[in-house]
Amino acid sequence: MTGKNRKAVPDLTVDLGRGLVLKNPVMTASGTFGYGEEASAYLDLSELGAVVVKGISEEPRRGNPPPRVVETPAGMLNSIGLQNVGVKAFLAEKLPFLLDRGATVVVNVLGSTVEEYLRVTERLSTAPVIGGIEVNISCPNVKEGGVQFGMCPDMAAGLVASLRSATDLHLMVKLSPNSGDIPGMARAVEEAGADSVSLINTITGMDIDIRTRRPALGGVFGGLSGPAIRPVALRMVYEAFGAVRIPVVGIGGIADPEHAVKFIIAGSLAVQVGTAFFLDPLTPLRVIKGIEEYLSREGMLSLADARGSLVVGDPG
Ligand SMILES: Cc1cc2nc3c(=O)[nH]c(=O)nc-3n(C[C@H](O)[C@H](O)[C@H](O)COP(=O)(O)O)c2cc1C
Repeated sequence: MTGKNRKAVPDLTVDLGRGLVLKNPVMTASGTFGYGEEASAYLDLSELGAVVVKGISEEPRRGNPPPRVVETPAGMLNSIGLQNVGVKAFLAEKLPFLLDRGATVVVNVLGSTVEEYLRVTERLSTAPVIGGIEVNISCPNVKEGGVQFGMCPDMAAGLVASLRSATDLHLMVKLSPNSGDIPGMARAVEEAGADSVSLINTITGMDIDIRTRRPALGGVFGGLSGPAIRPVALRMVYEAFGAVRIPVVGIGGIADPEHAVKFIIAGSLAVQVGTAFFLDPLTPLRVIKGIEEYLSREGMLSLADARGSLVVGDPG
């Protein structure tokens, strides 16, 4: 092959803004990858765009009673209940392992009040080695009768504005599909200072054991994830892309490179792989390689060429 005919290798680098630069667009989805310890037996964490860790609260949380996971026809329902080690143990015991392995680390943050989110974010901001924060707004606000932050644009915007004034770290705000208005929610958090939005979190569902007539999950309700939610996620990513100027990160049922490419065409600048990791821990690496092959095949030099390139209506 002559130099002229040789295909250029596409540039997979992604700049999500405010210092969060990924070597490729594929991250792990929070809660499906723990703190990277078990996963590091299967893959080199430094090859991932970023590791998004399990949601971190101020104090350790024990989570919901079992059973916590049930299989569904095309995915799973979980009611883990935000179990985690708390911010202090995360910084002392978990973060060093990830950094040692060369991972870019995005910390998923959760809280029951704006003040709790703030305290966790302030603690994390003392560790500038962190690549960014993903704000899980699908948590109940105990001061507002348990309504989830992510269900109300004003509440979500108030939370993001407080965090914005407290940190210079990249703020990626993770939207809930259970909110009826994705464009409105995306715009609200963008105006409040979010650097990017990621979506979707799980869709609330439930299952029942007909023999005992009890809920299949200890937490009664659970979050649906996996291939079943992919079409919903794709639609919501497309809506968010049309609504905001900040980068959109697509999540939901991504198990193959083709799925990730669909999210990129719908407007995602990066993606996260969650449930598929349980079936095949090498999924994220396969997705990275497949995105590169797709861009190369299509003669595209960077992700920007494919991003948001959906053709709607009559192309002629
Ligand atoms: C077992 C499990 C635990 C999760 N824990 C969290 C969490 O702590 N914080 C969060 O924002 N999302 C959490 N999620 C949601 C995922 O990050 C992701 O948004 C969702 O599962 C959809 O992606 P997927 O279909 O690729 O799994 C969890 C999902 C699963 C399956």
